[in-house]
Amino acid sequence: MTDLVEKFRAMKARGEKITALTAYDYPTARLLDESGIDIILVGDSLGMVVLGYKDTTEVTLDEMLHHTRAAARGVKNALLVGDMPIHTFETPENAVATARKFLEAGAQAVKLEGGVDHAPHIEAITAAGIPFMAHIGMLPQRVREEGGYKVKGRTAAEADGLLEDARAVERAGAFSVVLEIVTAKISEQITKAITIPTIGIGSGEHCDGQILVTHDLIGLFPWFTPKFVSPEARVADEIRKAVRAFIERTRSGGLSKG
Ligand code: KIV
Repeated sequence: MTDLVEKFRAMKARGEKITALTAYDYPTARLLDESGIDIILVGDSLGMVVLGYKDTTEVTLDEMLHHTRAAARGVKNALLVGDMPIHTFETPENAVATARKFLEAGAQAVKLEGGVDHAPHIEAITAAGIPFMAHIGMLPQRVREEGGYKVKGRTAAEADGLLEDARAVERAGAFSVVLEIVTAKISEQITKAITIPTIGIGSGEHCDGQILVTHDLIGLFPWFTPKFVSPEARVADEIRKAVRAFIERTRSGGLSKG
């Protein structure tokens, strides 16, 4: 645990950017790992980009554990983080029990959404010796209450709240904190105010690292791409192309090899 905290703190101190992406299955996790990514998150974005739910609020613990086991089989070098789904960390005791299940499934660390309001839960997890990544800013598990994915940090009150959240999760023992769609200015302020690394998603360039949903990065979920993502590939187009070629070849009586 100390090593891990130190490794990422040291990267921040050296100004070395931390890279993180999501994976939910063996081949993707293995490809990311072989490519040299620092952190692989089995995110509850699983619900949207793999399971076809509207948002992350329907994802269950069993689903997350199933996909964590699959991803874990493909990871040798990266840090594998399991994302605790909604309703699985209602109390500090419950949070520790859930975190342990992720470790049994092969994760080396866990993440949950929340700041000051979840400091006791985070403290309980880190006191149990479980490495913890925090997540503040826009919290997708609250998207229904909030009525959408809204940028955070635009008002002074919101900015103060975010700084308090960041300090609280650092005090509670988190080794890093995800900032989700926080304004670039406030992300920069938070990054300067704490010693653990900030990992941004849609939060500007000043964070200590960046995380994305892999499906967004590689264009594998073409029906929705967040505004802040510039895809590096168009995998959905490649799949459609291959499938159409197969259909055409089969209907015209051709065979693939063999
Ligand atoms: O669920 C997820 O993929 C996440 C990242 C977007 C940070 O929480």
